[in-house]
Amino acid sequence: MLEVDHLSVSYGNIVALRDVSLRVESGEVVVLIGSNGAGKSTLIKALAGLVTPARGDIRFLGNSLLKRPAHARARAGISVVPENRRLFGDMTVVDNLLLGAYSRSSYGRAPETSGDLEQVFQLFPRLAERRSQIASTLSGGEQQMLAIGRALMSRPKVMLMDEPSVGLAPLIVRDIFEAIEKLRHQGRTILLVEQNAAAGLRIADRAYVLELGRVTLEGGGSELWAMESVRSLYLGGDKQ
Ligand SMILES: Nc1ncnc2c1ncn2[C@@H]1O[C@H](COP(=O)(O)OP(=O)(O)OP(=O)(O)O)[C@@H](O)[C@H]1O
Ligand SMILES: [Mg+2]
Repeated sequence: MLEVDHLSVSYGNIVALRDVSLRVESGEVVVLIGSNGAGKSTLIKALAGLVTPARGDIRFLGNSLLKRPAHARARAGISVVPENRRLFGDMTVVDNLLLGAYSRSSYGRAPETSGDLEQVFQLFPRLAERRSQIASTLSGGEQQMLAIGRALMSRPKVMLMDEPSVGLAPLIVRDIFEAIEKLRHQGRTILLVEQNAAAGLRIADRAYVLELGRVTLEGGGSELWAMESVRSLYLGGDKQ
């Protein structure tokens, strides 16, 4: 469904991604693990159309995305849960969710959202209880749930998640990963980038390890987690 082919991205003299190739098939949860500065967010941004690659190609459903702007990629069904969540802080939970549906509206008409809100509230009951709460007053974990919920409202073909566990307490991280596991069972297609190798690899159908902008390993989630080199690489991280 999504193919990254020999992709390189630079910021001035800094090469953030070097010759990265990976793929995500329909219905797969693919996890890319890498430490700080490995280039994880850069990959998500390149897929979303927010940075321009120096070399390589990105294909979605067989077509190159490189010439398509970010809003066209969103409309085509690529939905991003960004690193900093980017919620509308002074709006309510429900209004943030409804805005998530707008990427699939046409000519300014309100999109059909019946059923979508209920799905999000089923996945995250805490959001249902807080549906009228102002987004900036939610806890960090609830804000992450809202960011995922908003992405779901666009009825994405593929979801790109940038470190949903970052900065959250272990119990909340567990809730977030349980939700991602449910999305996996629904047959959704997800590319997740994570520093939390233990949690990420546990839910991954397939995984890649990104180090200093290069893919250094790939394999099944449990296969990679069984490798001493992967564990030692992330020993400093969260091993719950
Ligand atoms: N706008 C930018 N200008 C210059 N350099 C940048 C820019 N954005 C990222 N970089 C550099 O590119 C490299 C990769 O950054 P990126 O944000 O993709 O890493 P990451 O894997 O997401 O890290 P983290 O886990 O800390 O979020 C880093 O060396 C970073 O300093
Ligand atoms: Mg990042």
